[in-house]
Amino acid sequence: MRALVTGGSGFIGSHVVDKLRERGIQVRVYDMIMPKFRDDIEYYQASILDLESLTMAMADVDAVFHLAAVADVKSVYEHPHYSESINVRGTINVLEAARSNKVSRVIYGSTIWVYGDVAEECVDEDTPLHAPSHLYTATKMTSEYYCQAYARLYGLPTTILRYGIPYGPRARDGAVIPIFVSKALQGEPLTIAGDGSQYRKFVYVEDLAEGNALALKGVAANKIYNLDGKERVTIRQIAQTIQDILGKDKVRIETVPGRPGDFGGKEVSSERARRELDWEPRVGLREGIERYIAWYQAREAQRATERSRLDTTLHDFSSPPVTRSVASSP
Ligand SMILES: NC(=O)c1ccc[n+]([C@@H]2O[C@H](COP(=O)([O-])OP(=O)(O)OC[C@H]3O[C@@H](n4cnc5c(N)ncnc54)[C@H](O)[C@@H]3O)[C@@H](O)[C@H]2O)c1
Repeated sequence: MRALVTGGSGFIGSHVVDKLRERGIQVRVYDMIMPKFRDDIEYYQASILDLESLTMAMADVDAVFHLAAVADVKSVYEHPHYSESINVRGTINVLEAARSNKVSRVIYGSTIWVYGDVAEECVDEDTPLHAPSHLYTATKMTSEYYCQAYARLYGLPTTILRYGIPYGPRARDGAVIPIFVSKALQGEPLTIAGDGSQYRKFVYVEDLAEGNALALKGVAANKIYNLDGKERVTIRQIAQTIQDILGKDKVRIETVPGRPGDFGGKEVSSERARRELDWEPRVGLREGIERYIAWYQAREAQRATERSRLDTTLHDFSSPPVTRSVASSP
């Protein structure tokens, strides 16, 4: 079996690639950025805006995991027009290329943000969605509707996965756990606003990736699944976990004035994924943060080695050229 992963060089996509390889599935990454995390995969460098390239890349492909996107909500806010092209036109290109190649399944990486505007506090895949107030959510919902329309109109089997908030190795530096870890390791205090009781649910990225691989099951064709974390985690708990792991003497936690925790988000049920796919988040917060810290430290060490190699090279380069004495003929 061969799977193509769009966005396979990114945070979640790279872990999806790992999980597929663990199952012996051949993987072709379709991304603008070269995947550097393993070398037993094929790589197709092109944009999802290029339908011709996508169509060629999907030759002999059985399943497509579509994760390429402008995934950072802040970037979507700053570049709405560009983001719309990648997140919406990009998706229809993926579906169209899959249709013409008669791909057996397209699995689409969506988000629990699609529930952001519904009135209910407890939601599942049958909760009717409300018109989105954010552009990012609008692009993700549109892509979901395109997946469903391709399934109904052309018989292209699709599966929509609504991811919770992921964390773990290869995460973007700008998220809360990476920011806290980076500060802690640099000896800076971790700052908590108010009582730190604001909570979120996080899902460890390898658990999320496992959910993607399980979505290849026949039962998942033309279905939607939430893949959200289990535990509610407060900002204070995150800071304290990092402090516990790295040592109380090394990590300071500071509290600054702020509103008491008022963000609850929605209670998103992942019961369908548990029942039908046998999916459950397995990695707890402490273990997940430990794995993230180990990865972060290895990355920083590698960067330091590369920098010192570069310094040596530049030093050699800038030293005066060796002058050779030319023997004068007698
Ligand atoms: N990270 C989150 O918090 C989160 C939460 C829920 C859902 N999602 C969704 O999961 C998916 C993956 O997110 P991520 O966090 O891994 O993002 P990421 O930014 O780490 O990865 C996205 C990948 O897509 C690639 N890409 C971007 N534009 C492309 C183009 N035009 N052609 C080909 N490749 C292109 C990028 O090079 C990158 O490797 C996205 O669809 C995102 O909306 C992310």
